[in-house]
Amino acid sequence: MSEKKILVAVFSASGVTRAVGEEIARVAGADFFEIVPRQRYTADDLNWMNKKSRSSVEMNDPSARPEIADAADVASYDAVILGFPIWWGVAPRIIETFLESHDLSGKAILPFCTSGGSGVGRSDVSLHKNAPGAKWAKGVQINRPNAGEIRKWLEQAL
Ligand SMILES: Cc1cc2nc3c(=O)[nH]c(=O)nc-3n(C[C@H](O)[C@H](O)[C@H](O)COP(=O)(O)O)c2cc1C
Repeated sequence: MSEKKILVAVFSASGVTRAVGEEIARVAGADFFEIVPRQRYTADDLNWMNKKSRSSVEMNDPSARPEIADAADVASYDAVILGFPIWWGVAPRIIETFLESHDLSGKAILPFCTSGGSGVGRSDVSLHKNAPGAKWAKGVQINRPNAGEIRKWLEQAL
């Protein structure tokens, strides 16, 4: 689909974003990398009704940077397709960890999100500060692993 060497990197707590990311990698002929937290999120951690749950505490703290188990080897890629679920209207803090701990300068970043209903909003733009040297494409919401929708997006975005 493209001459570019592409990495699809996703964080997914409950599998939705992972399934979309795997389909994007298949359609784009890209490599796939899962951003795995050093400490995985339990169901209790994800409880947004509880102000003291791990996800609530992290999302209330803009400086929280949950650790990632293994770094991705991004050096050889021209573009990174970055997938995340929307948490409280934005990207989970671990996405900021990913952006700050890899050298993405000069690379294209194509953000996509899944969500329970919110759009991508400013979740993509608010990440630009974490990798200011990257070439940021406009973020999109892709909630289902639909090859046709994904192909259409990639054709104009890549
Ligand atoms: C802590 C937390 C906060 C969330 N906040 C939002 C939100 O603000 N808006 C929304 O539409 N969905 C929200 N969701 C739903 C997720 O974005 C949605 O279920 C997503 O597809 C999950 O992706 P995953 O299975 O890859 O983790 C939230 C989910 C969690 C766990």
